Amino acid sequence: MPPLTDTPLRYGAISRALHWGMALLFLAQFLSAAAHWALPRENPVRELLWSYHSDLGLTLFALVLLRGIWGLLNMGRRPVETGPLAGAARIGHAVLYALMIIVPGVRILSAIGGTRGLDYLGFELVPARAAEIAWTQVPVAWHGEMGWVLALVILGHIAMAVGYHRLLRNDGTLARMAG
Ligand code: HEM
Ligand code: HEM
Repeated sequence: MPPLTDTPLRYGAISRALHWGMALLFLAQFLSAAAHWALPRENPVRELLWSYHSDLGLTLFALVLLRGIWGLLNMGRRPVETGPLAGAARIGHAVLYALMIIVPGVRILSAIGGTRGLDYLGFELVPARAAEIAWTQVPVAWHGEMGWVLALVILGHIAMAVGYHRLLRNDGTLARMAG
């Protein structure tokens, strides 16, 4: 059982729970997006998968904020990337964090400035406004596209963790998050 906090040798239990829990939730979120993209409007599978997209997206947004705060609190004692691709790994993780915030963030912004409001698990989170704030509706046009870019970056991240670190170099990087 790993300690709760991170250590230079491995990620702690809380970072791991957040990492793997969110990985599962992202899988469910991309399933709903894929169904929305690929299936016709009346399809019951699409309706079922799409029904949770907004609530799950808001949950992921809250979790990424918690994870970011936990990461900052553990900054001085987390594992540090080493090896020839350490710089690329740091940039890759920063891009993952940025997109995990921006993708749901633009939807939340558009709800704050929009006329339809926003519910979370049936509770009103953002009340509807009488008039829309125009600039808040601009970045949301890229929500879907940025979501797909995030999916590609995640696939690259998995390929690096499993293909490069585990299979090619067997350097223990995967184990400090998984083993
Ligand atoms: C990390 C969280 C999220 C991810 C990864 C994500 C991903 C995506 C993707 C990839 C699409 C494109 C689907 C297609 O091509 O048909 C999409 C569409 C959509 N998402 Fe999300 N989403 C997230 C959060 C949210 C949230 C919080 C809301 C609402 C509050 C939301 C509402 C929508 C809506 C209404 C669409 C259809 C219109 C559009 O493409 O912009 N999403 N999402
Ligand atoms: C099968 C899926 C996945 C595997 C095998 C995997 C593997 C790993 C490994 C081994 C690390 C540690 C890297 C290091 O110590 O340098 C890591 C860190 C990280 N992973 Fe994943 N990962 C997966 C899915 C995801 C998903 C879905 C996301 C988010 C969208 C994600 C985001 C991150 C981030 C941001 C880090 C940096 C450490 C942190 O702040 O938590 N990973 N991953």
